[in-house]
Amino acid sequence: VRRLGVLTSGGDCAGLNAVIRAVTYRAVRTYGWKVFGIIDGSMGLMERPLRYRELDLDMFSGNMLREAGTFLGTVNRGDPFNFPMPDGSTKDRSLDFVDGFNKLSLDALVVIGGDGSMKILKQLCDRGSINMVGVPKTIDNDVHGTDFAVGFTTAVNVVTEALDRLQPTAASHHRVMILEVMGRDAGHIAINAAISGGADVALVPEIPYKLDSIARKIEEVIREGRNHALVVVAEGVKTEDGTPATKAQSHGQMRYGGIGQYLSEHLAAKTELETRVTTLGHVQRGGTPSTRDRLLASAFGVHAVDMVAQGQSGHMVAWRDNALVEVPLEDVCIGPRTLSPDDALVTAARGLGIYVGEEGA
Ligand code: F6P
Repeated sequence: VRRLGVLTSGGDCAGLNAVIRAVTYRAVRTYGWKVFGIIDGSMGLMERPLRYRELDLDMFSGNMLREAGTFLGTVNRGDPFNFPMPDGSTKDRSLDFVDGFNKLSLDALVVIGGDGSMKILKQLCDRGSINMVGVPKTIDNDVHGTDFAVGFTTAVNVVTEALDRLQPTAASHHRVMILEVMGRDAGHIAINAAISGGADVALVPEIPYKLDSIARKIEEVIREGRNHALVVVAEGVKTEDGTPATKAQSHGQMRYGGIGQYLSEHLAAKTELETRVTTLGHVQRGGTPSTRDRLLASAFGVHAVDMVAQGQSGHMVAWRDNALVEVPLEDVCIGPRTLSPDDALVTAARGLGIYVGEEGA
């Protein structure tokens, strides 16, 4: 290997720059390779002229380890196999991608992405023409094959801090505070932050709930002597009857502004307490990368380069059972890794008295 490409793909998160830094350090310092950062994910290889920049050690003398986002840029809608066209149709531009890889004379590519990106990576690897390895990143932590993806623990820290800030105002006003968090179809952020932020209720898409049970939980908390309650709800949670709570999810029909607002209206009616909603949104994607994310990003970046050096392709580096492992992409690309209702953290949350939806449902 002489020329290694690296790109970030899908939604950004904290720790991406730390991965790029580690990839560059390992490739340049240990192997003496040239490293090329591809601009705006797959777009940089599909467009002409090609968009890239050579990465050298100097670029990382500043704050890169500490900075969220990706200095290379990224896109959500850059699937080369289903590239969105202005008229709403899609086009297969995978040959442009492969052609870009060849034009830049790359020997291999490190793709830092979530489960959607790993699927694209697998499709490209299946063609057999290019060598690529994956590095998992996503605040949702829903990539199969790894216990942790880069960006997740920073997002959980942000949500925990939000709960730390909501609690005093909840107490001052005797209110129920509802915090809507990201996670797409998975409840990992919600369950982790609900425990670390001392919530009373944690609703996740994977476990059905009842509004009456939430109201009972809040009344119990009040009976115990507290004058306020904290509710964490994952954005993917539906209404009690299973219908989507957001405009986008319900195909253009406005129902509620989101699941947080739905809960707020119903819980206010059921408990006669004042409720307020905070939707944290993209704040969860920024923030200084946590120690854990810096460690993971650095170890993943080094190992991904070693995998390339060993001639491995079609694999993702992963962290499992306290070790770095290499997972074949076919074991990764089986849909999002959602929260198991039997997860140790669900049990722990219930052990603390947090309502996490109906037990045994
Ligand atoms: O996958 C990461 C994520 O932040 C999800 O938690 C969220 O649903 C989605 O991306 C938001 O996507 P966008 O940045 O396109 O609004």
